[in-house]
Amino acid sequence: MTINHVLGIETSCDETAVALYSNSGLIAHHVYSQIPLHREWGGVVPELASRDHVRKLLPLVNQIKEQYPIDAIAYTQGPGLIGALLVGASLAKTLGFAWRIPTLGVHHMEAHLMAVMLDEPKPTFPFVALLISGGHSQIVYVEQLGHYQLLGESIDDAAGEAFDKTAKLMGLPYPGGPELAKLAAQGDANAFDFPRPMCNRPGFSMSFSGLKTAVRTALQDDAVNKADVAASFQAAVVDTLLIKAKRALQQTNATRLVMVGGVSANQYLREEAAKRFSTQGVDVFYPKKEFCTDNGAMVAYLGWLKFQQGQCDADLAIRVKTRCEM
Ligand code: KG4
Ligand code: ZN
Repeated sequence: MTINHVLGIETSCDETAVALYSNSGLIAHHVYSQIPLHREWGGVVPELASRDHVRKLLPLVNQIKEQYPIDAIAYTQGPGLIGALLVGASLAKTLGFAWRIPTLGVHHMEAHLMAVMLDEPKPTFPFVALLISGGHSQIVYVEQLGHYQLLGESIDDAAGEAFDKTAKLMGLPYPGGPELAKLAAQGDANAFDFPRPMCNRPGFSMSFSGLKTAVRTALQDDAVNKADVAASFQAAVVDTLLIKAKRALQQTNATRLVMVGGVSANQYLREEAAKRFSTQGVDVFYPKKEFCTDNGAMVAYLGWLKFQQGQCDADLAIRVKTRCEM
């Protein structure tokens, strides 16, 4: 059976997202954000996330099913919140059984990675990728689909987590990353000389948790300009990411840098990357902003690629993983 229309289901955290990818490209995608639900608590409440996925997912799938045929279903199997993942996986497997079509669990970060292929220009393999989300900060050498070499990662907070925690320290609402970035746009990135952790050591490991302490200290001065703190913090994270990325490009002789995951939506990161690499013969790629943060299109697309290779779930068991290797 040839597989043309692939439904993608993403429920790993606080977005309920579905999409349909076919031989002719992306046909439909819908994202329902739970931001208003969690904002009151200052962060994602896992049980509330799961319950909201239960409410929102089937109506979103129906919107697609009413308009298009579906030949196969890909869903996020992990990493993510266990209850949230179970909602997507259970529905995917149930519909797969009922409709007699194949299903496939995919890796959330691999889906983020391949999101860069959803639009033109697409990078050709091989390339160096910065996978930077709320849960992960990794530098990966990507030889081709399915062939990944992890060069290094954050040993503590992920880049997005650092944005979120620092935003909370500054009294900004959830989700902290984009709020902090907005404030940073009005500040001076050179106002504070925050540390660039682990940049003076060889290798690709990163650490972002110490930055919180530096920010906390700066905030002790009541008269401090918060926009300056935000801009200086953002500059420290971006500088660290790009120093490590440059090292990875040099070591692998790659001439393409891909930035994916929620933090790759950051405008300052995009501008800095362009500034630093345009003169060095390195092309920089990232998805459009709606495909940097969690979405169903990346899951549908990765599923579509893997179904073309003949991959699919071997049985009806519902398996999810809160943590897993790509
Ligand atoms: O990829 P994503 O949507 O979910 C995970 O897989 O974690 O990433 C979410 C993360 C959050 O930490 C959020 O604060 C961060 O991406 N983020 C940003 C921006 N937009 C989202 N961080 C910095 N600047 C942004 N513009
Ligand atoms: Zn994500």
